[in-house]
Amino acid sequence: MTTIKVPDPFRGLFVPSRYKAYYGGRGSAKSHSFAVAAEIRAARQQLRILCAREVQRSIKDSVKQLLEDKIEAHGLDHLYTSLRDEIRGSNGSKFLFAGLQDMSIDQIKSFEGIDIVWVEEAQTISARSLEVLVPTIRKPGSELWFSWNPRHASDPVDALFRGLHVPENSIIRRVNYDENPFFPDELDAERRFDRTAKPERYGHIWLGDYEPVAIGAIWDRVCLHEGRREVAPELGRILVAVDPAVSSEAGSDEHGIIVGGLGEDGRGYILDDLSVRGGPRKWAERAIAGFDRYGADAIVIEVNQGGDMVRHTLESVRPGLPIIEVRASRGKHVRAEPIAALYALGRVSHVGTFSALEDQMCRMTASGYEGEGSPDRCDAMVWLLSELFPDLTRKPAKPKRRTQVGSRRGPGSWMGH
Ligand SMILES: Nc1ncnc2c1ncn2[C@@H]1O[C@H](COP(=O)(O)OP(=O)(O)O)[C@@H](O)[C@H]1O
Ligand SMILES: [Mg+2]
Repeated sequence: MTTIKVPDPFRGLFVPSRYKAYYGGRGSAKSHSFAVAAEIRAARQQLRILCAREVQRSIKDSVKQLLEDKIEAHGLDHLYTSLRDEIRGSNGSKFLFAGLQDMSIDQIKSFEGIDIVWVEEAQTISARSLEVLVPTIRKPGSELWFSWNPRHASDPVDALFRGLHVPENSIIRRVNYDENPFFPDELDAERRFDRTAKPERYGHIWLGDYEPVAIGAIWDRVCLHEGRREVAPELGRILVAVDPAVSSEAGSDEHGIIVGGLGEDGRGYILDDLSVRGGPRKWAERAIAGFDRYGADAIVIEVNQGGDMVRHTLESVRPGLPIIEVRASRGKHVRAEPIAALYALGRVSHVGTFSALEDQMCRMTASGYEGEGSPDRCDAMVWLLSELFPDLTRKPAKPKRRTQVGSRRGPGSWMGH
């Protein structure tokens, strides 16, 4: 076999050990080295390797492409065949790909025969996925590999490997770009730019430090984790809220689309984040797909800039939809505060993990948004909960069209896709 190298810190991936936990900033060769090590090990010995992440909407979200690129780059093509959802080795090795969030406990438990599980972007793995996965991987000599860029000490993977008590038989290693001999010039230019342009985020992005807590942030990760649920209870009113980006350059902006409902227990549940980039038709179709999938009662849309166009866009895809139009008379963060108070009171749960939405939420401060771009997902979520908890936000009277408060449905409707 050709000599294939991984940077020094990753040699641990070839040493027997129950846990391998590598965390650090961007460009530290985590993904590439894990892919290379997994391929080499699966070529040497017949192994079943599960490449898992918390959220995998399609196989494109997985590391399959990266594995294929590495197989090709190392001239290992003759040893592997790539199928639609898996990669097979000529020696019987297999790579499987899965998103844990959408799997039932039994489905996760069916991975019992796995030799190595690699959890990529492990900062987003939920406590539930971790609790089910770890005891499932029980074959003698089996290993659990984690790669991630840390966000907060309360994230389950950090709590497991970086708390007071770490599991025995673990290789836990921080890695950064300066230990990556392959660190490309393009990334280095980006890094140097960030050092001057975003000094407050540099440590997190490039050195693997926890995310800086935005001063005056109105949400925090601990509160989001504590509220998190695996399934929603019986829900009453369900809404899809849309914060359409109104930009002339089609496709450049993201449209926030959030689905949620009011539980019969009086609590709010965020069920899905269907945000998407693209032209107006794109968001309209996504919102309507969400409306159908969750059997929603209405679509809430912000019409500030778009006016009639926004409603027209939805109606051109499907006429006669129940639409609730909302207009912002106050700033984003002012609208967000009563909703943050609801979370603080423990009255809202995220059903599953919504990383991008939660990142935006944690950068919303009392004096504005501290992230990059526009917090479209957070905005859509705020509209949604404002509509589900109208008393809280004391809105001035607004024109509403055909608001339907409607049908009951059970849990489970949020899952299938
Ligand atoms: N084994 C390798 N061979 C060639 N290039 C590599 C290798 N490992 C890393 N690199 C280069 O370093 C870059 C960063 O690696 P990556 O694995 O994406 O880092 P991380 O996952 O830590 O952000 C890659 O885009 C690639 O250009
Ligand atoms: Mg990576």
